[in-house]
Amino acid sequence: MTVTVIVGTQWGDEGKGKITDLLARDMDMVVRYQGGNNAGHTVVIKDETFKLHLIPSGIFYPTVTCVIGNGVVIDPAVLVQEVSGLRQRGFNCANLKVSSQAHIIFPYHRDLDAAQEQKHEAGRIGTTNRGIGPCYVDKFNRRGIRVWDFQYPDVFRQKLEWNLKEKSFLLNNFYGFKVDYNADQIIKDYFALYEQFKGLVVEESTVVIGGAIDGNKRILMEGAQGTMLDVDHGTYPYVTSSNPIAGGACSGAGFGPVEIDEVIGVAKAYFTRVGGGPFPTEIEGGMGDQLRERGGEYGTTTGRPRRCGWYDGVVMRHAAKVNGITQLAITKLDVLDSLDKIDVCVAYECEGKRIKDFPTDINRLAKCTPIYESYPGWKEDITKITNYAKLPANARKYLDKLAELSEARVSLISVGAERGQIIKV
Ligand code: GDP
Ligand code: IMO
Ligand code: MG
Repeated sequence: MTVTVIVGTQWGDEGKGKITDLLARDMDMVVRYQGGNNAGHTVVIKDETFKLHLIPSGIFYPTVTCVIGNGVVIDPAVLVQEVSGLRQRGFNCANLKVSSQAHIIFPYHRDLDAAQEQKHEAGRIGTTNRGIGPCYVDKFNRRGIRVWDFQYPDVFRQKLEWNLKEKSFLLNNFYGFKVDYNADQIIKDYFALYEQFKGLVVEESTVVIGGAIDGNKRILMEGAQGTMLDVDHGTYPYVTSSNPIAGGACSGAGFGPVEIDEVIGVAKAYFTRVGGGPFPTEIEGGMGDQLRERGGEYGTTTGRPRRCGWYDGVVMRHAAKVNGITQLAITKLDVLDSLDKIDVCVAYECEGKRIKDFPTDINRLAKCTPIYESYPGWKEDITKITNYAKLPANARKYLDKLAELSEARVSLISVGAERGQIIKV
């Protein structure tokens, strides 16, 4: 077995990009298996910062094959821009492959995303407005247009025209948007973009990935978003439209579950969330603002301020179970360096009972309040430490508690954004 899955355990932005880049050094292949350019994965190499939205975070190693898998939704303009941005910075992307089975995001997906957000009676999701949800809707409704379809211009046009008719009707008549799509123009624009990335397209990405598995290559699956944004296992409906959990790697890349060797859950040493929806351990004002400023908690994709809160052991236990986490990577521990005390949520109180199983029904969740334990801070700069034994005793105590609550061993501790700021346990 050769497959390792990297999965976000919280509401995204846990530092998956950093951990993927770090581990990619010893890998043969890195695969993105779901999501699209709603993701923003940051990699810091020396004094250079890279923000990746679609391209796997293994791209900085020319010998590592990077695959955008069948489960991803692709905005071609973003893909082309990201590739050209990397080329300008010295990474030629010759190691990048794009699955023909991936679905394409069109302007009407972005418009529908915006329209739904404006109209949503149940409260806004606070999406990234990239058209991700509507594109997945079309995929599952079997109206989607895939990378494959660029090979058949007549079929492409037929599908597009049908979609334009349906979406225009909906946007103009139900959502009160004024749209007037021009099929010829969209076809012209999209085929011009396709020309720029078609050299990266592989016809059967599952054969490429399956071949690597059969050849005992080391393969990393890079999840986007996080467990609590999973459409099945998160805080529905305040979620994304895919399955970021480890199991999503099987469908989004095309291999069997028995191939998975390790599941690395990436967890921030505190919690954040961007967008709407429940967040039991959120701290409003005061300490929440302090964490946001110290941690630079502003969205990588949209620049929105992230909501901040304490580490939630109930969420982590849920993440451990639905992903089958075998190792934990704790990130941003350094952000807590100057705190006098750090709270940790060890259980919820829900209708007079102490519970440890996360309620995925948000109505029930609304009745829960976190039960906290406090830990003393270490009040010391840890950003240069690379050896676990050198960490202050209070930091080690805090990590022990996180591991216990998350029901997994800590194998990596990140103490700064740069590639080298890592402690291997
Ligand atoms: P991702 O979406 O999970 O890849 O995470 P993001 O890149 O959206 O957000 C994580 C942010 O934290 C980025 O700005 C990273 O550069 C930064 N980061 C990652 N690990 C650490 C760490 O250990 N310490 C600090 N201070 N920053 C980190
Ligand atoms: P990475 O991979 C944090 C959130 C949005 C919104 C919800 C639905 O960088 O961790 P969508 O546009 O997906 O329909 O929005 O999901 N969201 C993320 N939050 N990190 C992400 O990705 C996210 N991708 C989507 O803010 O609440
Ligand atoms: Mg991010």
